[in-house]
Amino acid sequence: MGLSTFDQATQCLEFVQTELVDVRMPFDILRADSVEILPDQINHNKKEITMKTVKHLLQEKGHTVVTIDSEDSVLSAMQRMAANNIGALLVMSGGQLVGIFTERDFSRKAYLLDKPVKDTLVKEIMTRKVFYVRLSDTNEDCMALITEMRVRHLPVIDDDKVVGLLSIGDLVKDAISQCQFVIHQLERYIYDTPGKI
Ligand SMILES: NC(=O)c1ccc[n+]([C@@H]2O[C@H](COP(=O)([O-])OP(=O)(O)OC[C@H]3O[C@@H](n4cnc5c(N)ncnc54)[C@H](O)[C@@H]3O)[C@@H](O)[C@H]2O)c1
Repeated sequence: MGLSTFDQATQCLEFVQTELVDVRMPFDILRADSVEILPDQINHNKKEITMKTVKHLLQEKGHTVVTIDSEDSVLSAMQRMAANNIGALLVMSGGQLVGIFTERDFSRKAYLLDKPVKDTLVKEIMTRKVFYVRLSDTNEDCMALITEMRVRHLPVIDDDKVVGLLSIGDLVKDAISQCQFVIHQLERYIYDTPGKI
C-alpha cells in the first residue's frame, strides 16, 4: 500500500532536516533576496534553515479558535462544525479548556449512547485527554505528536491560555511548502552555479 500524504510529508520533512540542514547549507546559496523567509527561520549563527515553529504557523493561519461549551448539545456542535467547515471544536467550561470534540468522537461514540443528538451533551462524548503544543514547538514536534497520539488537531497553549489550533492539514501543507522551497533552492544552486553541472 502506498504512503499517505501525511507520511510522505513527514518523510520529506525528516529528509530536509537530517540530509539537508545537517550539511549546514550556507545561507548565501539560498538566495534570500528571491524568496520570502521569516527572519526567525534563519539562525544567523549557524547559517542554516530551521523548521518553522508553531508561532510562525499561527502567524500565517491566524489565532481564531472555534469552541463549544461542554453543556451544549452534540447537535449544536455538529452544526457549528458544519457552519465553519471544520472537523473539531475545543470544548470549554467556565473559560477553561476541558476537552476536544471531533468528527471522530461523533462517528465512534454518539450512536453508542442510543439517544437523539439533540439530547446528548458534548461532555458525554468529547475527548477529555487533550494533547497540545506550545508556540516554541516546531512543525516536526507537532507531526510527531499527531502521529504518535493518533490525533488530528492540536490546541496551542501559551501562558495557560488557548491561543490557536493547528490541524493535520495545516502541518502537512507547511511541510510540503518547506520541501518545495528547499527543492527549488537546490535546483537553482545546481543549475545557476558555474561548474556544478
Ligand atoms: N489549503 C489549506 O490551507 C488547508 C489547511 C488545512 C486543511 N486543509 C484541507 O482541509 C481538509 C481537512 O483538514 P484537516 O483534516 O486538517 O482538518 P479540519 O477540516 O478540521 O481543518 C481545516 C482548517 O480549519 C482549522 N480548524 C479546525 N478546527 C478548528 C477550530 N476548532 N478552531 C480554529 N480552527 C480550526 C484547521 O486548523 C485547518 O486550518 C483536508 O483536505 C486538508 O488538506 C487545507
